[in-house]
This record gives sequence, structure tokens and C-alpha cells, in this order.
Amino acid sequence: MFNRTRRLRQSQIMRDLVKNIDFSMDNLVYPLFIEEGKGIKKEIPSMLGQYRFSIDMLKDELKELKELGIKSLLLFGIPEKKDCMGTEAYNENGIIQKAIKYIKKDFPNFLIITDVCLCEYTSHGHCGVLRGNELLNDETLVLLQKIALSHVKAGADIVAPSDMMDGRVKAIREILDENDYINTPIMSYSVKYASAYYGPFREAADSAPVFGDRKSYQMDFRNSVEFMSEIENDIQEGADILMIKPGLPYLDVVRAISDKVSKPIAIYSVSGEYSMIKAASMNGWIDEKKIVIENIYAMRRAGADIIITYHAKDIAKWLKEGIR
Ligand code: PBG
Ligand code: ZN
Repeated sequence: MFNRTRRLRQSQIMRDLVKNIDFSMDNLVYPLFIEEGKGIKKEIPSMLGQYRFSIDMLKDELKELKELGIKSLLLFGIPEKKDCMGTEAYNENGIIQKAIKYIKKDFPNFLIITDVCLCEYTSHGHCGVLRGNELLNDETLVLLQKIALSHVKAGADIVAPSDMMDGRVKAIREILDENDYINTPIMSYSVKYASAYYGPFREAADSAPVFGDRKSYQMDFRNSVEFMSEIENDIQEGADILMIKPGLPYLDVVRAISDKVSKPIAIYSVSGEYSMIKAASMNGWIDEKKIVIENIYAMRRAGADIIITYHAKDIAKWLKEGIR
């Protein structure tokens, strides 16, 4: 006697009947890069199909995103000038603050999530305040509070700190509450590894550190237990949504966290994951649509509720065509 597991795979209807993982556009978040300036729609060479826009060029893109059924955006800003304290990041007339106001005015239905970090705004490209070569934790918290508050004042729906300083969720929660934004959720980049998968993004957002690396603040992928303390800290500090990043290489971590916690889990399928798929599919080596959809199911299967992905526009088109 042996069990015939193939019985339930014999037809499409049978397979559809027993499948237990699904996703829709409700679950996807699309990242957008917005640059100071005019008339800019510049394709990012290492991320073909993704662009940097100036605000005046956003309209057609947002119209298209809306028609495709994209509901949530994750915004990144590229300022005109950078300095050692990243002051443009918390300027109320900074690029992101202006972009949020524009989107909220002309496209009020988008849910706007903002990346709260300093690396796109600092001349040294690190995610905080430096003393010599040392990145100062508590001094950075003060600036992160200013950034988050300025985003929320401009109209952001959710703030997403990505810096990996200790105590930043607590600090941001406090400043938002003090200013009566008690209902604005924090999506924390809780588990963020120091990863080479961010390479293309740093070109896209012009945010590569000019010296050293981010290993003193982002996590070491050679450790298999540390992620749980990051998660526990963020829950305790008041995070509403927990993010794991990168995506595909860290599904073991997503699974372990989703088994333990009862908060929504987001996964960020990052730039390097996107670029590898684009490059291989442009060479005809893989079937882009099938690979992307398989990956989305893999992330959902691991326990991700929310998926941040540069493929969101393509996925929307494929969903309209009907996928299996
Ligand atoms: C900013 C930030 C980064 C990403 C998201 N927010 C870059 C980094 O930490 O170096 C990476 C996103 C991607 O690679 O798609 N701290
Ligand atoms: Zn950063």
C-alpha cells in the first residue's frame, strides 16, 4: 500500500480546489523613486522598467498605477543637495514631503508609505549621524523623529523606518503620539540584513555609503537567532507591521516569525532580486512571469501578508490576463 498524492493533482479544477495560498493586488506595495527637479523620467540602468520621476512627471505614472489596481506606494526621495546631517530629509518642503502632498491632492486613494531613513540625504551615504567613522545611535533617533513627523504632517499614511538604529520605533511612536498622530501606523523594517541584494537600489536612490559598509547597524546573515530579538524589540516598542528584508533568500526567517507573532508581516523583495530576474528573462533564460508569480506564492507560503515588490505593475497586468 502506498498513498496516491497525485490523485488531487490530476486536473486544473482539482488543483484549484485544494490550493490554500492566494494573493491579490491588496497585498502588494509598489516602490517609487522621486527626484528633485523638473521633467525627469529616467530609467534606472540596473533596474530596467523602474524609473526616477520628478513630481511634475508623476501624473501619468500614477494614473497608470491606479488603473492597474495598485493601491499602496512606498516612497523614496532623492534630494538635490546632501549634507552630513541629511537636513533635506526633514525639510517640510523636501522632495518627499512635496511628493506626498501632490499625491494626496490629485490621487487621494493611494495609501502612502514612506521610507524613513537618512542615507539618501547624507553626503556620506550612511543611515545616521557620524562622529568620525562611528554611526551614533541616539543622536540619529532625534533626526528620525523629525523625518517621520514631517512625512506624517505632509499626509503619509504609514511610516517605515529602515535605518536599523536601536529604539527608533519607540522614538517615532513617541513623537507621533505627542503630535496627536496616534492613529498613524509604523511599519518597521524590523529584520533587515546587511545585504548585497541592495546593490541596484543604491544606484537607483543614489544612497551608497562613500566609505565602509552598513554592517554595524544592519544585521549579519550568518546569525540564525538574532532576528527574534529584533522582532521582540519592535513589538514591544509599538510597531504595527513587521518587515523582513530582503525577501526570497530569507523565507526561513519569515516562516519562523509568522509562526510566533500575531502582527501583520511584510516582506521586501528588494532591488537585487528584481534585477536578477530582469536580466535572466531579457536573455530568454527564464520565463519572467512564471518565475515572479512562483516567487510571490513562495513569499505568501512562508507567511508574508504584505509583499513590497518592483514587479507589482507587471503582476497587475498578469492578474488581469488571468494566471494560474
Ligand atoms: C534605505 C533603504 C535601502 C533599501 C530600502 N531602504 C537601502 C539600504 O539599506 O542600503 C533597499 C531596497 C532595495 O534594495 O530594493 N536604508
Ligand atoms: Zn538608510
